[in-house]
Amino acid sequence: MEIKKICVLGAGLMGSGIAQVSAEAGYEVSMRDIEDRFVQGGLNIIKKNYERAISKGKLTKEQADTFFSKVKGTLDLTEAVKGAQVVIEAVIENMDLKKQVYKELDQLCEKGTILASNTSGLSITEIASATKRPDKVIGMHFFNPVPVMKLVEIIKGQLTSEETFEVIKTLSEKLGKTPITVNEAPAFVVNRILVPMINEAIFVLQEGIASVQDIDTGMVLGANHPMGPLALADLVGLDTLLSVQENLFKETGDPKYRPCPLLRKMVRAGHFGRKSGKGFYDYSK
Ligand code: 3HC
Repeated sequence: MEIKKICVLGAGLMGSGIAQVSAEAGYEVSMRDIEDRFVQGGLNIIKKNYERAISKGKLTKEQADTFFSKVKGTLDLTEAVKGAQVVIEAVIENMDLKKQVYKELDQLCEKGTILASNTSGLSITEIASATKRPDKVIGMHFFNPVPVMKLVEIIKGQLTSEETFEVIKTLSEKLGKTPITVNEAPAFVVNRILVPMINEAIFVLQEGIASVQDIDTGMVLGANHPMGPLALADLVGLDTLLSVQENLFKETGDPKYRPCPLLRKMVRAGHFGRKSGKGFYDYSK
């Protein structure tokens, strides 16, 4: 299958990053969200990344303009999916919402279009059940910040075809990423390991064992992580982390995955991390 156009659904942190790397790989990109402020927000994230790259001398203004011009922001789903061989969905982590989106996509997209989900850990098989093309539904999980992180997890649902898998594997490589193959399971590989580790760091904080700064310094200097778990929580988004941890708990019934009450409390308070201006650190200044 020759891919010319990629449609990205969702213009948040992940969606805009996926749109950016797709444009840089030479694809025509439509980036769709449900409100104009979200679309503009996503375009702004890409613009800022390019401004930083230009100021560091990593890109010329002409190169940045060429990449940027390939990303078309839109609110119109029909227009967004028109002519796209692959749709990469990066909407919020809510199964009912995702199923509604996939039902609509199934009706609007051409027969051969592959529907790839950037879900952080929800069941691909369940998402696919909302369509009449479960063989063409697959997980394509990127990592934050998408332009920097080299990994893509490719998740096979129960009915995903080998052909779909091969197309997405080749596409991941064309986007400059290294794919790993995952048989569907809650939270896949990386989040299954990483998110409970972050949840544990939040328990350590809740129990008063060490301060935010000392927990992070501990893991940076003692385990050589590029950033501490609480700073990483703020980068990823506390709402996203809670949803991954809750899903692990729900799907396995194993109490070792129970979300830390402090994480839940912070999400309820609207402290989502960098994107809301406050998490374990303050980003408002
Ligand atoms: N967007 C785009 N580019 C970014 C960026 C962002 N948000 N943040 C940093 N960069 C770029 C910088 O421009 C710089 O590029 P250059 O090398 O070309 O100049 C490069 O990344 C390094 O940045 P900095 O020098 O500013 O900072 P660091 O060296 O401290 O790196 C980091 C920042 C890349 C975020 C690093 O700390 C890191 O790798 N952290 C861990 C990230 C991680 O674990 N991500 C996975 C989260 S889990 C996930 O996403 C799954 C989801 O489902 C929950």
